[in-house]
Amino acid sequence: MQFRTVSSLDGEQLDAVIVPVFKEGDATASTPAEMKSLAEWVAREGGPRKLFTASTHLERDMDGEGPGDAATRLIVVAAGSRDDFNVERSWQVVSAGVRALWQSTAKRIGIVLETESIEEQVAVQSAVEGVIYAMWRPEAYRTGADERKLPPLEEVLLVVTEHAAGDGANGALSHGEAIGDAVNWARHLANEPANHMTPTKVAEQASALAAETGLEVEVLDEEACVALGMGSFLSVARGSDEPAKFVVLRHLGRGGDGFDLALVGKGITFDSGGISLKDPQDMHLMKYDMSGAAAVLAAAGVVARLKMPLNLIAIAPCTENLPGGHATKPGDVVTSMSGKTVEVINTDAEGRLVLIDGISYAQREGATRVVDVATLTGAIMVALGRHYTGLFGRPDGFVDAVRRAGEQAGERLWPMPLSDEYRDDMKSEIADLKNSGGRQGGAILGAAFVDAAVDADTEWAHLDIASTAWFDEDRPFSPKGPQGASVRTLVQLAASIAARKS
Ligand code: BES
Ligand code: MN
Ligand code: ZN
Repeated sequence: MQFRTVSSLDGEQLDAVIVPVFKEGDATASTPAEMKSLAEWVAREGGPRKLFTASTHLERDMDGEGPGDAATRLIVVAAGSRDDFNVERSWQVVSAGVRALWQSTAKRIGIVLETESIEEQVAVQSAVEGVIYAMWRPEAYRTGADERKLPPLEEVLLVVTEHAAGDGANGALSHGEAIGDAVNWARHLANEPANHMTPTKVAEQASALAAETGLEVEVLDEEACVALGMGSFLSVARGSDEPAKFVVLRHLGRGGDGFDLALVGKGITFDSGGISLKDPQDMHLMKYDMSGAAAVLAAAGVVARLKMPLNLIAIAPCTENLPGGHATKPGDVVTSMSGKTVEVINTDAEGRLVLIDGISYAQREGATRVVDVATLTGAIMVALGRHYTGLFGRPDGFVDAVRRAGEQAGERLWPMPLSDEYRDDMKSEIADLKNSGGRQGGAILGAAFVDAAVDADTEWAHLDIASTAWFDEDRPFSPKGPQGASVRTLVQLAASIAARKS
């Protein structure tokens, strides 16, 4: 699939053109005149009103050269109010438009971009992302022939103003492609069933990504983890026969020592709860409990592909959490890589056990900033619903930088409190820490536990993506299932740190 920016569609033979129309009744300013009047007529005549709905119209004579031209579909997408338009809406509108072309045979399409409410480069990048997101389907294992009829897109023309067309948009196009592919890659990993996406398979996928992008890859097996004293991570792996893998990707874009940013992702390829077994109700969904790992690996791939001038390390401790004969039992005490001891009250609070050893490893590698990403708690869904990622950390300045990165990238994060009272709740009677502190404020308690592994001078943010990693319903811009949450935020954060460095 090729992307190109153009300032006009004159003389182009296209199978479809996607035109956003605002609630106020007007199409975006860069819409070619004939299409603009048709789209606005559609809008006036009761066309799509509900945000992201699309209606399809046939336009025969678009290039004005008389009858006999191939028909072009006009896809009018409701873009909501002009005042509400932002980066997030930009990719969502494009995605909804492309999804309206499912089952069609469209090969060459045009997309009219809104470039007045957001910066042109941002519009181009988010549109490229939106097209790529729309080309992802979750039904990889359905054998029916036409279940996954995506349009065979070959070329996508993005209509912008004169000024943004041409080479000026190359950066935005390559960023958009890199991020779009990475988000879909992360979705794919999370979507794969746990019998396919084992810790070994995650390590293989990370190695393949490294080979493609120029990242350095290192996969520590259980023996190497024992040697490093990762008793907390390994305590989770004890109940499973699948070998655990501690996956590390390095990007040395700045050169020299240390890492400007470490990303640590929870890689539980299946979470049964262990001896503290989960209810069977939604247990099958716990294949996506490695979404944090997928996100940090995917983000590292983008940072390498775009050759960002910073040193970045991505760390994914991967294991299953199963109740086998050697499984950790409630009440067991284990020693983490930091030296701190942990009483395992509840074996289902396993994410925090793998994260703390991942964070200790990051700090040992000389990371000064650490962001961990995890489907950590059901409680974050109670607190925030499904539309915001929970954001924790210290100091406040760094937490705010992460939130702003999310805002720029079109992802929503909401700051949550973290104070000493919560840290006190995670102290054990017989060890330094306990891994479960009761029901109330469960997402904060999870963060307070992870906090114990973070050195005083490390800048740290914790993203609880249990709320956002998976969505249970189809939406016009995205199928139900894995959403690739936080990849974009992490990439944007890396980019802003790199910009400060150079
Ligand atoms: N992976 C789960 C959290 C989760 C639940 C993610 C549902 C996505 C959807 C995590 O390992 C877990 O089991 N957390 C427990 C913690 C509790 C035992 C302190 C929870 O949230 O109930
Ligand atoms: Mn669990
Ligand atoms: Zn879990």
